[in-house]
Amino acid sequence: MYVQLKQRDMRRPPVNVSTLARMKKEREPIACLTAYDASFARLVDRSGVDLVLVGDSLGMVIQGHDTTVPVTVEDIIYHSRHVARALTHAFLVADMPFMSYSEPEQALDNAVRLMQEGAAMMVKLEGGEGQRRIVEHLARHDIPVCAHIGLRPQSVHKIGGFKVHGRDPSQAERMVTNARRLEEAGADVVLLECVPNELGKAIAEQCRVPVIGIGAGPDVDGQILVLYDMLGITQGPVPKFVRNFITAADDPLAACEAYVQAVKSGEYPAPEHCFS
Ligand code: KIV
Repeated sequence: MYVQLKQRDMRRPPVNVSTLARMKKEREPIACLTAYDASFARLVDRSGVDLVLVGDSLGMVIQGHDTTVPVTVEDIIYHSRHVARALTHAFLVADMPFMSYSEPEQALDNAVRLMQEGAAMMVKLEGGEGQRRIVEHLARHDIPVCAHIGLRPQSVHKIGGFKVHGRDPSQAERMVTNARRLEEAGADVVLLECVPNELGKAIAEQCRVPVIGIGAGPDVDGQILVLYDMLGITQGPVPKFVRNFITAADDPLAACEAYVQAVKSGEYPAPEHCFS
C-alpha cells in the first residue's frame, strides 16, 4: 500500500498547491515541464522540476498531429497514469482535452476521470471568458484547476493560427479581468501563453494565485516548456520562447537540470525568448 509514498524522498517533499502558493509569496520561480511517459517523467522529476504537465501538446509531439484538437480524455488518462508512477516530488497536472469541458457536469465527470484514472492532482483547461462557470463548478467539487489563458491552442482554428495575444490594449485589459475572474471562480493556478512581457507582469501582479508563463516573459511566477522542444527533439521551427537546453548539456537529465537552474536564477527567459 502507498508504494509511491514510501519511495518518496522526504528531504524533497512532494509539491502541492500550498507549496506553489508559498513559492509565489516568497518569489521562488516555479519550474515546470511537460512529460508524457514514465521514463521522461522520472528524469524530469529527478532534475528538480516543481510541476509536471501531461499536456494535450502530446497530440503534436507524440501523436504527430498539427494541433491539439484530436486529443481525447482517454489519451490524457493513458499518459497521465504512466507519468504519475514515476513522480516522487513534482505536482502532476493533466490537460482537459478539446470539448471535454463544454458543460459543467461533463467537465466534472472528465476531471474526476483524470484524477481517479490518470492520478492527476490538478486539471488544466483553456479558460476563455465563457469557462468561468466551469471553473466554479469544478472548484465547488474540490477539483484543483489551472486556467490556461492568452494563446489557447485548442481554439487555433477559430483564432486563425498560433499567435501572440494581448498586444492591443483593450484585449490586454480584458485578459487581466478574465484572469482575475477565473481566480475568483476558484482557479488555483493561471497559465499564460504567448503574451507581451508587460501583460505577463500585470497579470502576475494582479492575481493572488501563481501565474505560470510560456512565452509570457520573465515577470511571472514560473515557467513551463514542452519537454520535446527544450530537448531539441522537435524538428523544424519552434516558437520564439523556446530555448534548447540539450546543446550545452551532456545528456537529457543535465539539460533538464540546467533548465530548472535557469528558471530559478531568472536567466531564462532571456529577452530573445520574449514578446513586446
Ligand atoms: O499542452 C501543453 O503542453 C500545454 C503547454 C504548452 C503549456 O498546454
